[in-house]
Amino acid sequence: MNTRIIMLDESNLDTSVIEEAGKVIREGGLVAFPTETVYGLGANALSNDAVKKIFEAKGRPQDNPLIVHISDIGEIKALVAEVPDIAERFMKRFWPGPMTVILPKSSIIPDATSAGLPSVGIRMPSNVIARALITAAGVPIAAPSANISGRPSPTDVQRCIEDLDGRVDYILGGEMSDIGLESTVIDCTVKPTCVLRPGGITLEMLKEVDPDTYIDPAIMRKPGEDFKPKAPGMKYRHYAPKAPVKIVQGDLKKTIAKINEMVQNYIDGNKVVGIMATDETKDFYPRGVVISLGSRKNMINISQSLFETLRSFDDKKVDVIISESFEEKGVGVAIMNRLNKSAAFDIIKV
Ligand code: TXA
Ligand code: MG
Repeated sequence: MNTRIIMLDESNLDTSVIEEAGKVIREGGLVAFPTETVYGLGANALSNDAVKKIFEAKGRPQDNPLIVHISDIGEIKALVAEVPDIAERFMKRFWPGPMTVILPKSSIIPDATSAGLPSVGIRMPSNVIARALITAAGVPIAAPSANISGRPSPTDVQRCIEDLDGRVDYILGGEMSDIGLESTVIDCTVKPTCVLRPGGITLEMLKEVDPDTYIDPAIMRKPGEDFKPKAPGMKYRHYAPKAPVKIVQGDLKKTIAKINEMVQNYIDGNKVVGIMATDETKDFYPRGVVISLGSRKNMINISQSLFETLRSFDDKKVDVIISESFEEKGVGVAIMNRLNKSAAFDIIKV
């Protein structure tokens, strides 16, 4: 397939490109596009055949439902059986933005989109290209992250191209994603509401609307028989670069010492080691390939660069990646959730 790759200026949108890409979606094609969380791979959410193409292009397991993206709050009515009061309050507070609400679906949502579940995830993104594309398409857009299944989600158009060139009709390029991690998914079909995937809208923020909401305990733990995550997508090995990832967790000084000891052992064994560090610590690693995620003082820096950094270690052909860890507070919960999964829970405590 010949993929058209077009770069757009978010502050001065070329509407003819948006109209054309919208038409491609409406007519059953695939378009990758930027959002404030990560880049998405979109298709007409109301077409079983169009949505099936997403699963093929990504190599995505069939039992993992997709998020349906809208550009106006009024569009939700046709897609769901009901909007409980609490969902409406979340939507009013956090849309447009990085939050997906799970609601009972209406009959127009095809099985391919919801993976046969009676519910559907809906999100209204804030990114201007995403919004304009949905409006131009005239249909809601089903969109998972625009990566080959299992790889870290793309936060930059170059990573989309790397994974999807030749597999989709269009790739629309915009700026780097602001948040860098996928949306917070909140199940509003249950009481109290339950966070199925942590993201940029943090538990602390959600609690201001629903004080009883909580995070599905399964998602912060190693997968096992006792804890089955409620979001089907959270059970897969995910967000993984090619090199194995190991996390060192504990006091920062001890972390640095432990990482340096591990680095030395790998170097002695002729391995190339990547170290995922922070601005505060990067100068304390004399050996290995050191990349800083940004300053610990601004956790959004860290979330924004996490997936891109994991991918850039692959470019540098490291054999193993060792990462520092972060406090599970605010967006740190989402950061550690993705990091733990990329490491398949290979955590060394110090
Ligand atoms: O930020 C995002 O949400 C991005 C951008 C493109 O909007 N999309 C995204 O989609 O991350 P995806 O497909 O990579 O992740 C969707 C997650 C999966 O964990 C899936 O299992 C869960 O949402 N999900 C979707 N519908 C669901 C449902 N009806 N019930 C439970 N979980 C659901
Ligand atoms: Mg994904």
